[in-house]
Formats: sequence, structure tokens, C-alpha cells
Amino acid sequence: MKKIIILLTILPSLLFAKSNLIKDSLFISENFKNAQKHLNKMLQVADVKALQYPRTINKNGVLVTTDMYDWTPGFFPGLLWNTYEFNQDDKLQAEAIKWTQSLEPLKNFEEHHDLGFMMYCSYGNAYRFTKNKLYKDILVQSARSLSTRYNATTGSIKSWNTFNSWHGNKKYSFPVIIDNMMNLELLFFASAVTGDTSFKHIALTHALNTMKNQIRSDYSSYHVVCYDTLTGKVEGTETAQGLADNSTWARGQAWGIYGFTMVYRESKDKRFLKTAQGMADYFINHPNLPADKVPYWDFNLLEKGYIPGVNSNANNVNDLFRDASAASITASALLELSLYSGVKGKKYYDFAIQILHSLASANYMATPGTNANFILKHSVGSIPHNGEIDVPLIYADYYFLEALNRYNQMSQGKPFPFWVKK
Ligand code: GLY
Repeated sequence: MKKIIILLTILPSLLFAKSNLIKDSLFISENFKNAQKHLNKMLQVADVKALQYPRTINKNGVLVTTDMYDWTPGFFPGLLWNTYEFNQDDKLQAEAIKWTQSLEPLKNFEEHHDLGFMMYCSYGNAYRFTKNKLYKDILVQSARSLSTRYNATTGSIKSWNTFNSWHGNKKYSFPVIIDNMMNLELLFFASAVTGDTSFKHIALTHALNTMKNQIRSDYSSYHVVCYDTLTGKVEGTETAQGLADNSTWARGQAWGIYGFTMVYRESKDKRFLKTAQGMADYFINHPNLPADKVPYWDFNLLEKGYIPGVNSNANNVNDLFRDASAASITASALLELSLYSGVKGKKYYDFAIQILHSLASANYMATPGTNANFILKHSVGSIPHNGEIDVPLIYADYYFLEALNRYNQMSQGKPFPFWVKK
């Protein structure tokens, strides 16, 4: 009798959990089916032999590609790997391999900091699925190339070779942008597979300096911090892609949440966890965040006291454009952060799922055959540069699918698909 009473008490919650699992899995599989349709069509027009990598669309809705030396070529192979991860389609894997291998020359590239994005989203995923030693060696060589940009005096990896202030009065020679946190994952990988701790040392020193100089006391972020290489001191705190120097660029905040979460995973240093959680709470609780949780391109757009530099195109734009890429990066990051956050974890998990549902709605998701075969609409590249405004962007799609894979594993209680492993 007692057993029957216990069963009757827990039965409703068991049924509720089961029906949620079915709902989750339907949502995820529908979205991967849709992604596959987009990708199949993209593969008909994108030509790997031309070494041109899908990035966005132009004003006429036509596909825009870049060469491999821009910061985004790793995302298309990464998208193929992310979709392969879910559906295990052999043809997709063959394409993923071709697109990944086309990027091999980048292993010696030293001209900007984005090698982590370029190689870890492509070769990192490729190595995760194939354990091909050649891919591992290419990743390690890429980590060496990235490390050449580290300066022991500033304790940071130089992002761009120079940065021209929007105020028109200054050209900096050691700019570091918050996005750079993402490139550190490649360095952690290289230390894990080689045993050479110098990569990890660079990553941790860079992350500590970013935490100290780039994150404000309310856990919002500066986009660009410029250093003096003689003294190692901060020379300027500015923005390149945000509204103003003192504002918080939405995608920059997203890179920070993701980056500090990942650095906590690799270091177990609680200071990084606190920073990731503070940055996440800033995003989640911001009064200007729209109800669907897809942020405007800058958190401070609606406020007084945020003045663009004289040369910034932000002076000419009043529309409240959303940035779906900032939302998809944040969703993926929050799913991981939820694992490390104890009771607060549920808040991060639920928020991530809300974002994914918004992005999967007709407001953001394109019908296959439209949107030049990108999955998501309504991202912003850079309003200050007057470039890529309210368009699809390949990295919005990449992090959307990465988040869906994370959601898939987590909703089934499976081990999480992180891959800084030997
Ligand atoms: N890392 C460049 C960007 O987020 O636009």
C-alpha cells in the first residue's frame, strides 16, 4: 500500500519529465532537420575548391564569402561538424572533412588573434570526431602561431596589429578585444595534448588580465583595451563594434560569458567562474533586454551618456537592431555555465532554452531556400563600421547548432560534448 501511495505521488512528475523530454527532443530534431536543409542548399552554391567561405549576404540577398584569412572561415566547416554530430550523416562528414582540410595553410598564420575561431571550430571539431593525428598536429602548430602574438610585458595576446580610435585622435599598437577570450580554447587544447604548459600559461595570464582590465565592476565589458608595450599599462579603453567606449556591446558580452566559462572549465579557478556568472547576470537582468531575450546590438542603446566617437557610423543609426549572434553565443555559453553553477544553474539553463526557442521562431529562423541558405536572420556585424547590419551571419548559425547539441546531450543527462581532451 505504501509503495502504491509513493508511486501515485511521484507519477505526475515522472510523466511531466517524460513529456518534457519528448518535447525537447522533437524541438531539437526539427531544428537539425531544418539546418540540414539549409546546409544541403549551401553546399550546392559554396565551392570549397574556390577557397571561399560563407559569411553573410549582401543588400541584394546574395551570398557573401570571404577568403580564409578573415576571422570566420572555420565556422562553415564547424556547422557541418555540428550537424554531423546530431545526424551522423556520412555525406555531411565527407563535406566537413573537405572544408576543414582546406584551411591547413592557416596553421602558420600569425596576422591576427582569431586563429582559435578559425582552427578550433574546424580542426578542433574534426579531431573530436576522428582522432586523426594529423589534425592534432595542425592544431598544435596553430597554437604555436597564435602564441607568437603573446607579449610578456602586457601579459596578453595582441588581437589586431593596430586599432584606430573612432575619436580620430589615436592609433594604438597593442589592442586586445574581449572576443580574444574565445581563442584561448585552442591553447588549452595544445597544452593538454602535448604536455607543454606554456600554452596554458599564456591562456591563463591573458584571461587574468582581461578579467582585471576589460570587465567593469558591474560585470559589463569594454570591447577594446589598448596596452603600452613598454610599461604593460592600459593606454586606452575604447570600442570598435559597440555604441560607445563606456557601453556594452552585446556580442562582446556574449564572448565574455562563453570565454570565462570555458577558462573556468580548463582551470577550475573560481575567479573565472565568478566573472562568467557576473557577466551572465548582467546580460540576463539587463533592463533593456527585449522579452524574447535576443539583445539589441548594444545594451546601452536606449540610454543617455553613451556617445559614439565622431568617426563611428553609430552616430547615423537609430534603429534598434537585434543581434541574433549574441543570443546564440550566449545560449551555448549558459548551457555550459549551468553545469558549474549549483542552484543558480537552473536559471542559466532555462534562460538558454528560452533563447533557443526565440531563435527557432519565424521571427529569426529562415525558411529553407531563403536567406541565402543561412539558418538565422537578424544579426549585426558592426554598426560603427557600417557593415553587416541586420543580416545573417555564419557564426550565429554555428553557435545556435552548438547550443542545440549541448541541449540535446543535457536534456538526456548525457556527458557534455566539451572537447579539450587528449
Ligand atoms: N570577433 C569579431 C566579432 O565578433 O565581430
